[in-house]
Amino acid sequence: MPTKQNVSKLLAGQKALVTGANSGIGKGIALELAKAGADVVINYVADPDSANQLVGEIKSFGVNSYAHLADVSNEEQVIQMFRKMIEDWGTIDILVNNAGIQKDSPFDQMTLEQWNKVISINLTGQFLCAREAVKEFRRRGIRKEISCAAGKIIHISSVHEVIPWACHVNYASSKGGIMMMMKSIAQEVAPFKIRVNSICPGAIRTPINTKAWNTPEAYDKLMTLVPYNRIGEIDDIGRAAVWLASDQSDYITGTSIYIDGGMTLYPGFATGG
Ligand code: BGC
Repeated sequence: MPTKQNVSKLLAGQKALVTGANSGIGKGIALELAKAGADVVINYVADPDSANQLVGEIKSFGVNSYAHLADVSNEEQVIQMFRKMIEDWGTIDILVNNAGIQKDSPFDQMTLEQWNKVISINLTGQFLCAREAVKEFRRRGIRKEISCAAGKIIHISSVHEVIPWACHVNYASSKGGIMMMMKSIAQEVAPFKIRVNSICPGAIRTPINTKAWNTPEAYDKLMTLVPYNRIGEIDDIGRAAVWLASDQSDYITGTSIYIDGGMTLYPGFATGG
């Protein structure tokens, strides 16, 4: 139940799980959800120290948090992660399917291992977590005092669900797959008042793409792809995630929201093509 302290916050009393939450975009989202009053489970697969540190930071906002080690591509570990959350906190209201990796390679040298690893974490991992969340949302239904929806899933996709990406065929395929998975799940579960959407980040300042922004030359080159002329920051994504998880966006389902400073606007055509 919302406490007096957080009653005015957008996500007061909601229970969220963020996968891959101990760095990058996942961390930014976890922090913003917590600031908006949600209790947040921090899923991670490596670097327990950073996960535990984030739990401490989140608790300082007056909400609850714990870290949970699980590989999102492992069915048993995912089922166990949801079971624990539901046992400990009673339920889940918000799933942010964020965990994702890149294993880049020219196409003709891409190994089956590089392909399988990226598809298993980025696509199968989102499937496994979404399935467990939907089971719980349907079992529990709506609690009007918490949210007018029975549950919300936010997939973290990428501009590369629509922008082809040479030398990243595995990654772009996983993100294109997320788009159709998200829409198909959204269509199926809308009658149960479950909302399913994607956030599609462009170039955000995180460890996954350090080489694209950490020298002035790389940054200038990157800006040729970003009409708004600045790199994205993790709280650009976090703030949108809060809104998408809240009742303020209650009529939105099955949609991809691009947060990319215009990267999907085909900037190469800005001067007339
Ligand atoms: C990738 C980043 C890249 C960005 C824009 C993201 O999905 O993970 O490495 O900078 O797309 O191309």
